[in-house]
Amino acid sequence: MHQILRQILPKVTHVPSRRMGATGVTPAKLASYWEKVFREHGVPEPEDSSRILVAHALGAKTFHSIGSRAVRSPVSADVTTLIEKMAQERLKRVPVQYIIGEWDFLDMTLEMRPPVLIPRPETEELVGLVLADCLELHQSPDSSLLEVGCGSGAVSLAILWKIPQVRVIAIDKSDAAVRLTRDNAERLGLQHRLHVLQHDILTDPIERLQDLGPVSAVVSNPPYIFTEDMRQLEPEILRYEDHAALHGGPDGMDVMMGILQLAPLLLKASGDIFLEGDPRHPEMVKRWLEDHPEERLQLLQVVKDFCGKPRFIHLRMCR
Ligand SMILES: C[S@@+](CC[C@H](N)C(=O)[O-])C[C@H]1O[C@@H](n2cnc3c(N)ncnc32)[C@H](O)[C@@H]1O
Repeated sequence: MHQILRQILPKVTHVPSRRMGATGVTPAKLASYWEKVFREHGVPEPEDSSRILVAHALGAKTFHSIGSRAVRSPVSADVTTLIEKMAQERLKRVPVQYIIGEWDFLDMTLEMRPPVLIPRPETEELVGLVLADCLELHQSPDSSLLEVGCGSGAVSLAILWKIPQVRVIAIDKSDAAVRLTRDNAERLGLQHRLHVLQHDILTDPIERLQDLGPVSAVVSNPPYIFTEDMRQLEPEILRYEDHAALHGGPDGMDVMMGILQLAPLLLKASGDIFLEGDPRHPEMVKRWLEDHPEERLQLLQVVKDFCGKPRFIHLRMCR
């Protein structure tokens, strides 16, 4: 048992029961104990972290769903040990999503494996934008979409989940991302409408993608962090997530520009492009489009995220 836990248990528990290895420690006490330890060690979101780990050890989705009675009933020594093991990982700043091995994105539960990027809440808004503003995907029986940089598969799978007839091509340069997207597709039973391909859009031949036929839309949450901002990232991100999923070059635009050049060669006439980026990117993309009229792309709208930051860029191919 963890040293600190040994010290604190007599203070916070009654005499441990010997029945079935029970320790006398309840989920409520474990959650508040680990919250305190996390707080003392500067772990971000200490309450959420401890509650998620305790809930996971008990096979519950959330701390709340453990139930008011169970949360005050003693847990077995095995559960206490498992929570301690996971908490030690959290103290090393491993993200909870990697520790518990799964995370929810919209109404799907996806497997998470380091170093594949953990989907962020704002990316759920990117999916919302595609679903709301890409009529072709809803109306055409043979519509298809290309996602550049699929990571865990979150975006592609959410679109497949919501639009029953659509087909998706999901590409990523990372082998780990490609494998995780395939596994998540199988987990959700969506693999039959998904084509997953390991492909680097900056170096691999575009013909590989053109052979799959023109698509109605291209969507991407590319790596878009500016070089100078990389070192300010939290240890959770810097130590455990793939830097190639985050770093977008000096101006965060390396992969985004690759997409803007590639998309017109892959889209149907009037096809859509949906991008997530840094709040500085909409203006930069606007200037890039003015300098590259030959790409025949029109900026339709810039959409703010839930924090009010200009985050999403919707473009359309001109006829
Ligand atoms: C910010 S992550 C997005 C992952 C996922 N779509 C999401 O939103 O959670 C960017 C992804 O792009 C991939 N990527 C980076 N450069 C790429 C390139 N040149 N070609 C294809 N994929 C690339 C990374 O491997 C990573 O999985």
